[in-house]
Amino acid sequence: MQSIWMAETKIRERQPLPADLKAEAVVIGAGLAGILTAYYLKQAGVQAVVLEADRIGSGQTKNTTAKITSQHSLIYSRLVRVFGSDLARQYAQANEKAIKEYERLIREKRIDCDFVRCPACLYSCTREKILKEEVERAGELGIAAFFEKDCELPFPVAGVARFEGQARFQPLKFLQAIAEEVEIYEQTRVLKVEGQRVETARGAVTAEHIIFVSHYPFINVPGYYFARMYQERSYVVALQGASLPEGMYLGIDENGLSFRAQGGTLLFGGGSHRSGLNRQGGQYEMLLDLARVFYPGSCETGRWSAQDCMTLDGVPYIGRFSRRRPRWYVATGFGKWGMTSAMVSARILTDLITHRECQDADIFSPQRRFTLCGARELLVHGGHTVKGLAKHLLPTGKARVIPNCPHMGCRLEWNPEEGSYDCPCHGSRFDGEGRLIDGPAQTDCPRRKK
Ligand code: FES
Repeated sequence: MQSIWMAETKIRERQPLPADLKAEAVVIGAGLAGILTAYYLKQAGVQAVVLEADRIGSGQTKNTTAKITSQHSLIYSRLVRVFGSDLARQYAQANEKAIKEYERLIREKRIDCDFVRCPACLYSCTREKILKEEVERAGELGIAAFFEKDCELPFPVAGVARFEGQARFQPLKFLQAIAEEVEIYEQTRVLKVEGQRVETARGAVTAEHIIFVSHYPFINVPGYYFARMYQERSYVVALQGASLPEGMYLGIDENGLSFRAQGGTLLFGGGSHRSGLNRQGGQYEMLLDLARVFYPGSCETGRWSAQDCMTLDGVPYIGRFSRRRPRWYVATGFGKWGMTSAMVSARILTDLITHRECQDADIFSPQRRFTLCGARELLVHGGHTVKGLAKHLLPTGKARVIPNCPHMGCRLEWNPEEGSYDCPCHGSRFDGEGRLIDGPAQTDCPRRKK
C-alpha cells in the first residue's frame, strides 16, 4: 500500500536530463533535502540543478510521518554528555530554527500543506526520571520543554516530556510547491562522480559544487559513510475511527510506538528494526493487534514503511563530504527526523557554498570527532557487516538461492513483510525480481539460479 501522502498528491513529471550541461551546483536526489537545498541556493544566487534517479519525492519523503520537531527521542541528555553544552545547543537551535523557517516559507508562499503547530511528546511507561532529565537538558538549551504526568494516549504512562511549538504537515504538498521553483531532471540516475563531473546514463553535468542528498551516499571512498551508518526500517498503519491526539507522541521504552493525527486519521507506527533483520515479518500485524486493544472499532485505511539512515553517534552528517573533496557536500543520516533535518541541511549547505557564516554547523560536521558512543556503535555495525560478508562466503542450503548485495557483497535477507531482499550490512533493498529499491547499491541485483 502507498502512504496517505502519495494517495492524495500527484506531483507533475519532469523530463530526464536532455544532454550534457554545466551548472554552478548539482544536487543529487530530489527528496525534501535536495529540493530545499536547490531552492535556497537559487535564493542565494547560485544556479543549481537537481538530478533524481526516479521521481520527485519517491524516496523516503513519501514515507515519513512528517513530524517537524526538535524533539528527537532522548537526545539532549546524551548530546550534552558526549559533545558538551555548546555543541548540544547548536543542535537544538538548528532544529528550532528549522520549524520557524518552515512556518515562514509556508506562510509567505501560501502553501496549502496542512501545517499545524502542536506539541511533540516523549512518553514512557516506566522511566519518569529519564524523561525529567531530558526536559531539564532541553530547557537549558533553549527549548520550551515540560514534564507532565498525564497525556492523551489510551494507556497509562509514567510521564511525558512535552516540547511546545513543534509542527506537522503534509510533506508531498509542501514538496510539490517548492519543486516548482527548482530545475529538476527525473529518471536520471547518477552512475559516477569524478572530480566536478557527474555522469548519468542521459549525459553529464559539470558543476563547481556537488551535493549528495540521495538518502545514503553511494560513493564509498572517500567519506567511508558505509562504515559510519546503517539503516533501520519502521512501519505505520493509518487508522480511521481512532481517537486523535493533539500532540505527536513517541515512546522511549523498548518497542516504543509513534502516534500522530492527520486530519481524521491516526498514524500509528512502530516495529523498528535494522534493515535486513525482519526474517519473521509480522510488524504490521503487531501494530494492528495493538490498535484493536487501544482503539476498538477503528479500521485500517493504509499502511507503509520507512527506511532511515542512522549515524553511529545519532547526529546527521551535514557538511563537506570529505577533506579530500572540498567542493563535494553531503547531508545524510537523518535518523527518523528527516523533515526537520532536511531544512537544517538545506540551510547549512547553502551557507557553506555561499561562504556565509553558519553558527550551528559544527555539531553536524561529517568530520567531527569520533565519540565513545560512536565507537561502541561501530563495533555493533561492524559485527553485522562481518556476518553479512561471512554468509556470502559460506553458501549453504536455502542460502544458495538468496542473492548477494551488489554494493559490497553481503548476503541479502528475505523480508516476508514486504517481499523484498534487504541487506543487513548497509540497508540496500531489492524487490523479489532483484530490482533496486533503496541504496547505497546503485544497480539491480542479479538473482541466483535455484
Ligand atoms: Fe552494503 Fe549491501 S548495502 S553490502
